[in-house]
Amino acid sequence: MIPQACMLLLLALSVPQATATQAIERGRAVYDKWCWWCHGQDGAGDGPAAAYQRPKPRDFTLGIYKFKTTQGNTPPSDADIMHVIAEGLPGTAMPGWKDRINEQQRHDLVTLLKTFSDIFQYEKPGPVVSYAGEPPATPELIAAGKEVFRKAKCYECHGKTGKGEPSKRLKDDWEDQIWPRNLTKPWTFRGGRKVRDIFTRVTLGIPGTPMLAFGDPGKKEALDEKERWEVAHYVASLAEPALRPDPGENVIRGVYVAGDLPTAPAAAAWAEAPPASFRLAPQIIAAERFFTPLNDAITVRALYNDAEIALLIEWDDRTPSRPGDKAQAKLISGTLYADAVAAQFPATALTGLERPYFGHGDASHPVEVWYWAAGALGEEQRSAIFEMKGVGSRTAGGAGEPRFSAKGEFEAGTWRVVFRYRRQPAGDGAHFESDSFVPVAFANWDGSNGEAGSKHTLTRWVWLWLAPQASLKVVYVPAGVALMLGGILFRLSARARRTQDEEGG
Ligand code: HEC
Ligand code: HEC
Repeated sequence: MIPQACMLLLLALSVPQATATQAIERGRAVYDKWCWWCHGQDGAGDGPAAAYQRPKPRDFTLGIYKFKTTQGNTPPSDADIMHVIAEGLPGTAMPGWKDRINEQQRHDLVTLLKTFSDIFQYEKPGPVVSYAGEPPATPELIAAGKEVFRKAKCYECHGKTGKGEPSKRLKDDWEDQIWPRNLTKPWTFRGGRKVRDIFTRVTLGIPGTPMLAFGDPGKKEALDEKERWEVAHYVASLAEPALRPDPGENVIRGVYVAGDLPTAPAAAAWAEAPPASFRLAPQIIAAERFFTPLNDAITVRALYNDAEIALLIEWDDRTPSRPGDKAQAKLISGTLYADAVAAQFPATALTGLERPYFGHGDASHPVEVWYWAAGALGEEQRSAIFEMKGVGSRTAGGAGEPRFSAKGEFEAGTWRVVFRYRRQPAGDGAHFESDSFVPVAFANWDGSNGEAGSKHTLTRWVWLWLAPQASLKVVYVPAGVALMLGGILFRLSARARRTQDEEGG
């Protein structure tokens, strides 16, 4: 009797144990296939690919999870970890796996990940954040949220306009420098862009980072629930969708203007030109390769007239970097280089959809580069035009009358640089004709991120299309109609007058 009861008890105890062991084994097989090269064999975040990433892959041994919904200083729920594995973390190297790894395997992975840290043995996940009090967005609520943003000093890290220009250098718990999120780009939010997701981050903070938990009533920075909803709605209202790179977008539509082209980055005339936004990827083709960019997108507008073409190039940058700027140098640990931007075009007219070799052309297909740099503090900004026939070969642009100029302005987390170029006759440098497509690629250097020389970000080849002079057509057609109408009216009135004359006469 007694041994039998013991047997049963043993069985009852060992069955879950056995299934857990199996789950861990199954999870290990999936982990060894897909996860280890970033997160490391033992989950310490030290896989061979880790050095090329920022933020670094998570070190699971500390039991710190950033994107959870469980309250207080408690571990994440299984659902939280499942969610990150399925969806990934936007704006980081962590991909979403739901198309590649099935749900059962994702459960197994969660079971495995939890063995990397003993925190899951000693602590239970707390209650999850409640969304019961979620108010609908109203202009008043958003205005109240703006006030909370000020009162809670969110701007000290995220900047007054939310673009993420910090007033101090920030580090995470792994001793790496960390930059606050640009709140105008919700598509880069790791934990989701819904108002609820933002509310969760404001409430719980982002563990392991300087992003504070504003829902912790014990802390001096605590905000009540109403304030946290208000500020979450305000953050959601900051989105600038025009600056979001659209992977399907590859044409900058240049608009014809009758008069002078604007020189000032803030000129009202730019509103005429539709913006096109492109993703900036790190340069990994030529040595020295670069893997850890901060700036992620660039937005371009183009205007032209008969003599010239002008581009407005815009990008969010957390710091206006100029060598010699002590305040900016304090925000980083390395050397402060100058921020810069460049555009690359074919230097000779090409046929059809032909394009030069992406890495600065070759001997038979040279490229022309237009370049601007912020310069050192207190010095002039720099601009230059040169021709290249492959990496490292550079000849200064022709002498004589300058055909290129550039001017930049930094304001509230955004650089705006205007390029102006005198349109050339064919065969003499980059050539632009109305209604033709010219290949162009952009490069960007974030000086506070150690970017200089071949360390920079860049776009793929896209097209600049000088839209035909639509403005002329618009004027022309109504003018024709008016002429016709005028003619009819004239004849009618002439006849009327004649009739009058005849009647009167
Ligand atoms: C290409 C690199 C890469 C691969 C492969 C990768 N990850 Fe990640 N993972 C990351 C990075 C980077 C982060 C940290 C992002 C951050 O801190 O914002 C991360 C974070 C995580 C997190 C932390 C979530 C949190 O709330 O803190 C989990 C869980 C995770 N990864 C699971 C996995 C699993 C499981 C796999 C394999 C199926 C995997 N990762 C594969 C790069 C990777
Ligand atoms: C002490 C600096 C600091 C303060 C103050 C601060 N934040 Fe943050 N915040 C950060 C950092 C750093 C990150 C990025 C963390 C990361 O990359 O994991 C961040 C990230 C965020 C995110 C992005 C969440 C996501 O899913 O990616 C939001 C939203 C946010 N903060 C809102 C706020 C709001 C609202 C306030 C004020 C109530 C605030 N922050 C105050 C430093 C701060």
